[in-house]
Order: sequence, then structure tokens, then C-alpha cells
Amino acid sequence: MSNASASLGVVILAAGRGTRMRSERAKVLHTIAGKPLVGFVLDTALAVRPDRLAVVVGHEAADVEQVCTGHLSHRNTTAETSYPLQEEQRGTGDAVRVAMPALEGLQGNVVILYGDVPALRAETLADLIARHHASGATLSMLTTRVDDPTGYGRIKRGADGNVIGIVEQRDLLPGDEAIGEINPGIYCVATSFLPGALARLRADNAQAEYYLTDIVGLAVADGHPVETLEVADAREVAGINAREELATMEQHVRHELIAKWMREGVSFRDPATTYIEERVTIGADTIVGPNTQLLGGTTIGRGCRIDGTVFLEDATIGDRVHVKLGVVMTDCEIGADAVIGPFAQIRPGSVLGERVHIGNFVETKKARLGAGTKANHLTYLGDVEIGEATNIGAGTITCNYDGFAKHPTVIGDRVQIGSDTQLVAPVTVADDAYVAAGTTVTKDVPAGALAVSRSPQKVVPGWVERRRAQAAGPSSSEAHKRASGDQRGKG
Ligand code: UD1
Ligand code: CA
Repeated sequence: MSNASASLGVVILAAGRGTRMRSERAKVLHTIAGKPLVGFVLDTALAVRPDRLAVVVGHEAADVEQVCTGHLSHRNTTAETSYPLQEEQRGTGDAVRVAMPALEGLQGNVVILYGDVPALRAETLADLIARHHASGATLSMLTTRVDDPTGYGRIKRGADGNVIGIVEQRDLLPGDEAIGEINPGIYCVATSFLPGALARLRADNAQAEYYLTDIVGLAVADGHPVETLEVADAREVAGINAREELATMEQHVRHELIAKWMREGVSFRDPATTYIEERVTIGADTIVGPNTQLLGGTTIGRGCRIDGTVFLEDATIGDRVHVKLGVVMTDCEIGADAVIGPFAQIRPGSVLGERVHIGNFVETKKARLGAGTKANHLTYLGDVEIGEATNIGAGTITCNYDGFAKHPTVIGDRVQIGSDTQLVAPVTVADDAYVAAGTTVTKDVPAGALAVSRSPQKVVPGWVERRRAQAAGPSSSEAHKRASGDQRGKG
């Protein structure tokens, strides 16, 4: 009987190319809900608190290692972690062999996980380890039943129901196709058995690879106890080999995430068209409309309304914010009770205060807007700092770029910027100033002052009639007809 206090190592196999993905990138770096496949597997591994963790890398090794170390830097783990390199991908058995030096001296058990099986729950893995300890097995593994076992290794059982071994898809014998019980590739193996078994693997199979799965047959042949635990929902242990499976798994994971936020008090009007990533958080009583992408580290407060058809990435949104239809937000902060949109773009570095209103066709970039400030129509605010309770009129443009460098605009509190104003940066409009409609601001405006730049308006009476008569030529009666509206149907 193995000892529950024995050391635990976890090996994650992530060296394969993933040929069936037809991708430049290593398969385990493809993402589901914004998280790489290997990130899911790492999180499951950490949940069983291993003493050592070895991620076997090969294809795109540097990238895979970098993504793993980045991922782990946001996690709490005391596991001694290493990234053994499998230079040539000669099979899953060879991959585990490559990890053995990293487990040198470990006495206890090794959990082996495949980097392309992302949805395994930590509870299921903990159950497998518990069963392994309780039964005293040398090797324990998960199994599951699927309608279509194509591609998976099949679990072969003897007449007594005990496992005999695993047969890979390409090595099936007549009759094996019908076996519905498959190998998800999740094992717990005693360190007393594993290295010896790996040394005995042979590549005498259809793929000329060293199959890890062959250690099961070796254990049985040696008379070691082998234990299996069947997983009820096969989706939990589905492997991702091609893009279609990636999309199906994304749907499954997204569904789980939405269900989780619903339990936290968030409403989704159409879960089927809500795309939410792992790190996103949403406060209770927020209502999320259809066609919504909530990505990266987006954080949404309580009681917000997200009307729909929006793209929010790394957006931090306060309580009771109303995000209207057609808004794009990236890397920005929105204060409580703000109203954004419809059809607005809030670009990186925008920090909008409480009760700010941003209306249709307004774009902000590196813009700080104080509480209660409004820009409701057709406006570009870039590299700008605006105080509180200021009103930015329709069609205002901060001219922040002169073709060489970006320049700042500073606008104070309670300022009125008239419609169709251009602010040629660098420029400052101080507190309580007014800028008249149509002004091109090129010089600083002092506090409380009015700035106007307009050419005086000229009014020429009767000009239109004279112009039409001229266009019509000598016959002024023709011109008169036209002027009195005899042009029906020609518009
Ligand atoms: C494997 C199992 C199969 C099981 C299925 C479950 C073997 C021989 N077969 O098949 O029984 O039903 O997973 O999903 O184990 N890898 C390496 N180095 C290698 C080869 C693979 O690190 O040399 C890694 C891959 O990156 C991948 C994992 O091991 O993350 C599984 O490899 P893959 O080629 O996808 O195995 P399957 O054919 O799916
Ligand atoms: Ca696979």
C-alpha cells in the first residue's frame, strides 16, 4: 500500500508539434477563453500540490517555457519546476523518459498529464490520486466512454473485467474498434515502477514511437495492481488535436464560465453570443447583452448595463456604468455611473471619471476626463487631460499629432468647448473658459476667458436668385420656373 504522505511529482507532456492543428505555433499554446491549453493543465497540476513539476518541451520549446513561467508567476506554488527538453518527438513514453532526471530521488508517485487535455477538473485528478493511495495500486489511470472513440487509445479488458493494456488507434486489431472505453492519458504511477517500465518500452508499433500507454500492459504483465477510475463526462478529458476540437472545447469552457458568473448574480441575455475569458470578473446585478466579447483582464462593477455588440479588452469598469451598443474599449478605466456610447471607441490609456458621458462617434486615447465631464458627439480626444464638469461640444478635435510627435492638450474644470473646435496641441484651456464654436485654438486660453477665432460673417441679400438667373442664361422666365419648384421627380 502506497503512503499518502509520499512525494508527488507531476509531468506535463508539451513537446509535440500538434501536426493536426496545421499551425506555426505549438499546439499547447493555442488558447481557450484567452488561456493557453498548457495553462489549464498547469492549473490542474498545481491544485494537487506537487513537490516537483516537470513540463517536457520540444517544439517551440522557448515559447512554451516562457508561457509556462509567465503563467506560474501569477500562481502560488512551491513546486520545484523544470522544463526538460525532448529534442526529437519520439512518442509520449520517450517524453516521460526525458523528464526522469528532473524527478531524480523522488520517492512516491508521479502524475502524468498531456498538455492537450485542458478541461480536466482538479477534483477528478485528486480523486484519482486518492484512489491510487487507497487501493495501493502501482499504476492508476482515468478512463472514459465516448460515442466515437476514433483517435483515442482503447482500454483492453480481459474476461474478468481487469485491464490488460491500451491499444492505440493505429494498432487496433479487428474487433477493437468497437471498444468504447478510451484512455484520456491521465495516470498516477509509483516511482518504484516508472523508470524501469520506461526503459523497457519499444517502438515496435504502427507509428514507430515509444508509447507511454505500453507501461499499462507492462504493469499488468508484471503482476502489479492497476486501478482505473471512469470519468462520467467525456468532455472533461477530451484531447485537443485539431481546430474543430479547440472550438468545441472553447464552447464548453465558455459555457462553464458563464454559468459561474450567473451563480454570482450576473445576467446574460444571450449566453450563446457572449465570449468571456478566464480572467474577466463581473459584479452582481450587471446585465450583459448579446454579441459581447469580454476579454483579457476586463473587470466590470456591480449593476452595470452592457447593451451588447461590444468588445471590451482589459477594461476596468466601475459600478452602474451603462455601456451602450457598439462600444470598443481597450486597456482603459471607467468610473462609476458613466455612460459610454453608442458607437464609441475608448482606446488605451483612457481614464474616465465618475459620471462621465461619452456619446456617439467619440474616440478617446490617453485621455483623462474628470468627474461629470461630457463629450457627447463626433469627437476625438487624444493625449488630453480634462478637468471636472467640462462640456466638449460636438465635433471637437484635439490635433495632437504634427507629423513628428504627439503633443498634450490640457483643459480645466467647468470649461465649455464649442462645437467644431480644433485644439492644436500643445495647448491649455484653463478653468471656466469658453471656446466659441468653430474656433481653432492655437494659443493658451486663460481661466474665465472667451476664445473665438472666426472670420466675420458676410450676408449678401438676394444672391441666390441672381446666381440662378445667371445659370439659366438669357431666358429669365425659365429660371423663375426652376426657382418656384417645377423640378418634381428630378431629385
Ligand atoms: C495519446 C495517447 C492515447 C490517448 C490520447 C488522449 C499515447 C501513445 N497515446 O494519443 O492513448 O487516448 O493521447 O488524448 O500516449 N508529446 C510529447 N512528446 C512526444 C509526443 C507527444 O511531448 O514525443 C505530447 C504532446 O505534445 C501532447 C501529448 O504528449 O500534449 C499527447 O500527444 P498526442 O500526439 O496528442 O497523442 P495522441 O495521439 O492524442
Ligand atoms: Ca492528443
